[in-house]
Amino acid sequence: MPHTQPPNPSPFNFDQVIDRRHTDSLKYDAAVKRGMPADVRPFWVADMDFPAPPPVLEALRARVEHGIFGYVDLGASYYQAIQNWWRDYFNYSVAADWIVTTPGVVFSLNAALRAFSRPGDAVMLQTPVYYPFFSLISNNQRRQIASELIYEQGNYRIDFDDVEAKIKKHRVKMLVLCSPHNPGGRVWTKPELLRLGEICLKYGVTVLADEIHGDFTTPGHPHFVFAGLAPELERITVTCVSPSKTFNLAGLQCSQAFIAEAGMRAAFQAQVAATGYDEANVMGMVACRAAYEQGRPWLEALLDYLAGNTDYVGEFLARRLPRIKPGRREGTYMLWLDCRELGLSQEELDQRIVEKGNIWLYTGVKFGAGGAGFQRLNLACPRPTLTLAMEGLARAL
Ligand SMILES: Cc1ncc(COP(=O)(O)O)c(C=O)c1O
Repeated sequence: MPHTQPPNPSPFNFDQVIDRRHTDSLKYDAAVKRGMPADVRPFWVADMDFPAPPPVLEALRARVEHGIFGYVDLGASYYQAIQNWWRDYFNYSVAADWIVTTPGVVFSLNAALRAFSRPGDAVMLQTPVYYPFFSLISNNQRRQIASELIYEQGNYRIDFDDVEAKIKKHRVKMLVLCSPHNPGGRVWTKPELLRLGEICLKYGVTVLADEIHGDFTTPGHPHFVFAGLAPELERITVTCVSPSKTFNLAGLQCSQAFIAEAGMRAAFQAQVAATGYDEANVMGMVACRAAYEQGRPWLEALLDYLAGNTDYVGEFLARRLPRIKPGRREGTYMLWLDCRELGLSQEELDQRIVEKGNIWLYTGVKFGAGGAGFQRLNLACPRPTLTLAMEGLARAL
């Protein structure tokens, strides 16, 4: 039967293009500072071109109307909203006193690294990976031990033998786990996480689990909270999360670390205190609470929209650029494009995309040498914007 309307029209208009230029946006206003042409179209950094969910905007407006922005004391409703989110969508029970609020996940990772290792200690990354993990290690004078992920059939898998051998050989103290994985878009399965956990328990490795992309999953690929898989894993893990990716609130600087083990939590809190960070950002707190309390319908509509964007890119590439293979995206809102079949040098690939395509993707080598020949595309934009990215790519390549 013909129908004129989609079966479940979304009440949210993700197709709307909003001009973000001249809003002090890192994505839109920093091109020249970062060596890019002023008018380049950005698809690099992980923020979305969508406004935050309507209930979040309403809560922020109400707070602005109140007009007083004094120091914050995080109240029960803030903690409850976070606890409910992780219980309802990840079956993970977090006690309120396990939650330490910080301005960001990268901040939490730095504090945790300092709390649980010393200068010179070996820290493992699984590369290619979210590149600030590299500076996390170098800024704190730790030693980076990389276990290269294996790219197979459009995504990464863990080389467990390599992980174990390197942990043993280098006496690795910590593992920084990116789960779901950025840039590959893998959502690690329960058996994979358990196997990794077993190795960490065997060798006394503390785990920093960066689960900021946990809300971005696709059907059939549920995200498992690493610490939630077993009590003994919970005792060795700092789980770093934030509503900032999920609801596009990165500029509001509000994130959480979950630490079940009291001694670890105290050590982490001591590191946070040593930075002088003391009270939360009031707007970040208001947005976080509203997002976790009322943002679910928006997120679900967004996940559908991202699936549509992924399909659109897949179809475009198959038709116009069949030598570029999109990765199998299980999670995140990034698409990892395998451009190796084009046979271009990294420099030429990067240059053509910027100069001929006038688009700014993230070059794969930013995420480690194993990312050579890949590009990371941010899919979280209105379809008309994404169309410009694809047309740019076609012009370039
Ligand atoms: C894996 C991962 N961790 C952390 C962050 C940044 O988190 P924050 O802005 O809270 O420091 C990002 C942003 O892209 C990310 O992809």
